[in-house]
Amino acid sequence: MTPRPVLIGGKRGGRIRIWRHSNPGDPAILHPYLPCATFRRRQPSSDLPVKTSELWKPANREEAELLEKLDPKRLPNHVAIIMDGNGRWAERRHLPRVAGHRQGVKTARDIIEACARLKLPCLTLYAFSRENWTRPQAEVEFLMRLLREYLKRELPAIQKNNIRLRIIGRESGLPAAVLQDLERATELTGSNTGMNLVVALNYGGRAEIVDAFNTMLQQARTNGQSEYRADEETIATHLYTAGLPDPDLLIRASGEMRVSNFLLWQIAYAEIYVTETLWPDFSRARLLDALIDYQKRERRYGGLSATHSEHERGSHGKRSAAAKG
Ligand code: FPP
Repeated sequence: MTPRPVLIGGKRGGRIRIWRHSNPGDPAILHPYLPCATFRRRQPSSDLPVKTSELWKPANREEAELLEKLDPKRLPNHVAIIMDGNGRWAERRHLPRVAGHRQGVKTARDIIEACARLKLPCLTLYAFSRENWTRPQAEVEFLMRLLREYLKRELPAIQKNNIRLRIIGRESGLPAAVLQDLERATELTGSNTGMNLVVALNYGGRAEIVDAFNTMLQQARTNGQSEYRADEETIATHLYTAGLPDPDLLIRASGEMRVSNFLLWQIAYAEIYVTETLWPDFSRARLLDALIDYQKRERRYGGLSATHSEHERGSHGKRSAAAKG
């Protein structure tokens, strides 16, 4: 029998939320071990408005002009964001770093709502990395408090927007109160059918891959498979993000050209967009900039460009015709 991760909490109303690895030596992980069918594909394009401006009322002329440029039928399925620059934002204003985090949460709230209105199937936010524990204790505690405040205050809006919350990362080290709130929020939103809001918390991309491998090895040992070989699909289904599409677009605020151990496996073919804007200054308009830029990109997945392939097909066709002729 294939071993399953062990449930550590939150089985209510038939929905299972938080699982621990079946190997007691392994770290607990914060993702519901869901089958792959959880991701709802983008609605058929007939359901989407012709103009993106029908999705939200532009707050100003800039937003209105940007919305006009966006093609609602070619939006990414999954946007992942590294919300960086809170500290610098605060320092530039001679404020304590935590003021930057507080403003950062306001930005996160706006962007979550905007993405839900754009009907993006999935948005992942990097809220707290495993490396972030090395920050001063007061800052770490403040970040945890902010997250709890956010959940408490925004849960009704999350529900209203039909958003489904999912947390990825390791459980160990997170305060019990935070875990409890997260469990409640994921439980409450578990049957929502709109955007998946994935919050990476105590998250590390390498740790995620290590956890996936350990689960797979444990399963192979239990099944007595000495010749076990992993493949890409099996690895993907053991990651915290199992069942979600890979990010199409990775946005990084504050200008740093790094991926910072974020979704290392999943961003293999993501388009990367780095903006100088510090996260607290990021806005719906800056999100639209990123999406418009994404729509200009040609995604080749290691292949050739469409024009190049067309050209090749054309000359190959001519060559074949000549050979036949
Ligand atoms: C990086 O800025 C930001 C963080 C470590 C925390 C980000 C978290 C939030 C904005 C809260 C998230 C909330 C929700 C609702 C998901 P930094 O402090 O590293 O900035 P710096 O590089 O300028 O010092």
